[in-house]
Amino acid sequence: MNAPILRTKNELLAFINKLDSRQDLGLVPTMGALHNGHKSLIQASIQDNPHTIVSIFVNPTQFAPNEDLSTYPRSLEQDYALCDELGVSAVFAPSVEEMYPSAQGAGALCDSALDEVRLLPPKSMGYVLEGFARPTHFAGVLQVVLKLFMLTRANNAYFGQKDAQQLLLIKRMVRDLCLPICIHGCPIVRDEFGLALSSRNAYLSDEERVQALRLHQALESIKQAYNQGITAAKELQNIGIKVLNNMDIEYLEIIDENLALIEDLRQGGGACIVVLVVRVGRVRLLDNLWLEPN
Ligand code: PAJ
Repeated sequence: MNAPILRTKNELLAFINKLDSRQDLGLVPTMGALHNGHKSLIQASIQDNPHTIVSIFVNPTQFAPNEDLSTYPRSLEQDYALCDELGVSAVFAPSVEEMYPSAQGAGALCDSALDEVRLLPPKSMGYVLEGFARPTHFAGVLQVVLKLFMLTRANNAYFGQKDAQQLLLIKRMVRDLCLPICIHGCPIVRDEFGLALSSRNAYLSDEERVQALRLHQALESIKQAYNQGITAAKELQNIGIKVLNNMDIEYLEIIDENLALIEDLRQGGGACIVVLVVRVGRVRLLDNLWLEPN
């Protein structure tokens, strides 16, 4: 197949200008270190669209200074091979300077080194849960995702339910800024033992990996209880907390698509999402469960 790797905005624009603009273009934004979770998004896009572009860019503005920007796993060659094998039309893998013109010469860069037009997430969605632990994170995500939408002019973009808050915020950005793109949320992909795949799982020791399986077990017991008719959030939370016995739970909440806390799952009309973060070793593990109304 030999999909091109596009390194600059100009290369990307030239590539897109050659595509038939009547045909749909799918975009799968990633930070690389691709695993089967990413693969499922790429496959969904290829299924829906004649053309798919995968972006691979470790976006500095979504990392706080104390986070793992410099050690974040990078494996461009392998990532490219996977994308090519899956049949993507192109891989966009720009440098930081390409994506952030004001970063020219800034060297190792974090968010505070940039002075650019920024997007702020809504207060009710951007600074709770993940945004409480990482207050600058979602502004960085929205900034880079909007750039990718504008550069590719994709019709469809694919994101994982794994990062539930990110997915909901991107949907909100599209709604609030009237962006002409359709956002598709794709189910969480897990390993054979139930651990949600994540590039950061690479930081887990063997022992921690075993402990990490309890996140899925906790969510499964919540699902079971819900299917048996329990709808009070407090009760469902307690069932999960019991399974996570002695683990370092950062939060376990049940939210709606606006990130408002739900007290009883009978109350809302839309999806209810059980969101969970547990610290295992030095890793914050995210997992969640999307419950459709019974
Ligand atoms: P990254 O962590 O590389 O994830 C890229 C996409 O893969 C996201 O939409 C994420 O939700 C999805 N994903 C990750 N693990 C998954 C799993 N186990 N199952 C299904 N989907 C999974 O998320 C980002 O990058 C960045 O914030 C980005 C959106 C690219 C902006 O920089």
